Amino acid sequence: MLHRPERLAFLASGTGSNVRAILTAIREKRLGCRAVCLLSDRAKAPALELAQAAGLETAVFGRACWGDHAPRADDVLDWLRGQAVDSLVLAGFLRKVPAVLLEAWPGAIYNIHPALLPSFGGPGMYGSHVHRAVWNAGCRVSGATVHLVDGIYDHGTILAQASTDLEGTSGPDEVAARVLAVEHRLFADTLERLHRGTLTVRKESPLHG
Ligand code: GRF
Repeated sequence: MLHRPERLAFLASGTGSNVRAILTAIREKRLGCRAVCLLSDRAKAPALELAQAAGLETAVFGRACWGDHAPRADDVLDWLRGQAVDSLVLAGFLRKVPAVLLEAWPGAIYNIHPALLPSFGGPGMYGSHVHRAVWNAGCRVSGATVHLVDGIYDHGTILAQASTDLEGTSGPDEVAARVLAVEHRLFADTLERLHRGTLTVRKESPLHG
């Protein structure tokens, strides 16, 4: 039985266009969840201002809070518990989620990856690195994947995917733009299907058994 998200915490390291797309879906009543807070690992992440402008609580937690043996991971756990969220939405978040968060929100941590996993995923495969690899491989389509987060990068249960044709693109930047447009639709749609309990998965990742 998949978790049904209600109160969302965003984790974002960068621009936050995926956060903006989800906030728009909530405002337009296409997504029945509540956006509660946003945390970043970067004090200058534009996503922080975007969240503050939308009235969300925000916080910054630096490098000591992230990764497999993060000495300050409990600071993040305590802050998120204080926000009373039931789901974590990684929207352009570049750090590895520590085990204490995976254990606190099992099956309720979502990530969007800008490629059709399991292709073009794993350590180092983020942002422009992904689109350059897709371009250099001569792919005719690319797309995005929403998946559950487990202890391995881009490895958790695949929840939803959407593809985009690369016909007419002239380089990795245009691939990125087409994929980002797919992401903005896919993430909110997938969260709404999870919220309603209408999403089914084809294969559970072994770590989510
Ligand atoms: C997106 O391509 C997303 O797939 C990846 O990071 C990028 C961040 O985009 N995880 P934004 O910060 O949401 O604009």
